[in-house]
Amino acid sequence: MSGPPSDLPCRELFALPAGIYLDGNSLGAMPHSAREAVIRRLDEWQTQAVSGWDEWFGLAESLSPALGQLVGAKPSEVIATGSITANLHALLATFYQPQGQRRHLLATELDFPTDVYALQSWAAQRGGELRLIPSRDSQTLHPDDVAAALTPEIALILLPTVLYRSGQLLNVPQLTALAHERGALIGWDAAHSIGALPHGFHDAGADFAVWCSYKYLNAGPGAPGGLFVHERHHDRLPALRGWWGNDKASQFEMTPDYRPSAGAAAYQQGTPPILALAALEGALKVFADVDLADIRARSLSLTDRLISLVDRHLPELRVITPRDHAQRGGHVSLAHPQARALSAALRQRGIIPDFRAPDVLRLAPVALYTLEAELEETVRVLRELLDTGAHLKVDVSGAVS
Ligand SMILES: Cc1ncc(COP(=O)(O)O)c(C=O)c1O
Repeated sequence: MSGPPSDLPCRELFALPAGIYLDGNSLGAMPHSAREAVIRRLDEWQTQAVSGWDEWFGLAESLSPALGQLVGAKPSEVIATGSITANLHALLATFYQPQGQRRHLLATELDFPTDVYALQSWAAQRGGELRLIPSRDSQTLHPDDVAAALTPEIALILLPTVLYRSGQLLNVPQLTALAHERGALIGWDAAHSIGALPHGFHDAGADFAVWCSYKYLNAGPGAPGGLFVHERHHDRLPALRGWWGNDKASQFEMTPDYRPSAGAAAYQQGTPPILALAALEGALKVFADVDLADIRARSLSLTDRLISLVDRHLPELRVITPRDHAQRGGHVSLAHPQARALSAALRQRGIIPDFRAPDVLRLAPVALYTLEAELEETVRVLRELLDTGAHLKVDVSGAVS
């Protein structure tokens, strides 16, 4: 296998917090290269002030080849910009065009709330309704239920590549083909898959996709996310325009004529946050020499190991993440009525997982920096907590994640 050795892949590239960090699916740990890139841009600001823009002007576009590789797209199909929420608004404004009976939006009842809120906004703006595909087990999505919901009234469906609570990975090529067969456009929220596994948005023919870069891309809190627009849609004008989406060559002519950048870059709106973009610039360097297939292989081996440890030592915790590799993302979710208290007690002991209401403990072994021994220690501490009940004495108020 090329790329990182299976034991200690790129761990030395990260400044890890003390203890055991298993929350990289919420906020990835900091790569040294992210800090260095931010400091470099800060120094440029100090020494060059406004002249720094000569360098920063094309910074977002300069990241497109690396981002394109991560999502399986041409550089012209992606751009680092915005948040998932803002990008969804921009893309829905452009792509959701109700016509005749084909006027409704489709998502799932398991979606991250911001996706639902954005879709609700555009359904209300354009006179359609948002339909939510139900889950049979409150944790996962069945492809037959997606098929059943894709009626001729659906104009556009948005799906997560990986469900944030259960960690179920959906089949992007199959569901994209299904949506198109049914005459609907399809967008993907890749928050929980970018940086954790390979993607093929171009070949799958997805219409658009969005992602954040603070999880498995390790670009830091609030770093700019990104979006993908398939090249067959590059003749569409973005509905929400701004001067940063104007063609670079004419942007500073400052005329009222909007001339869109070629491709996804046209979906930029205002001045990019250069310091946060610098963190992404640095974080992407970690991926330059690593094969995504190797990242995926190590991620699966770590989640396999964790699941087998839980099966063996923690029978009270129910693994809700699919066991089938083809349906598993990068994290493992464990259901237990005391999940909130278990999460808080682990944090008190220097092990950082997270909790998702009402009863899910999420553990993310990140291929780039998590050790198998850390999973063993986490399971040992969980066993001790359940045996002693010590977690029930922990104050769980006040935490935001
Ligand atoms: C699936 C998914 N979508 C969206 C978001 C958040 O979107 P934003 O980056 O706009 O805050 C998250 C955050 O964890 C997420 O998990």
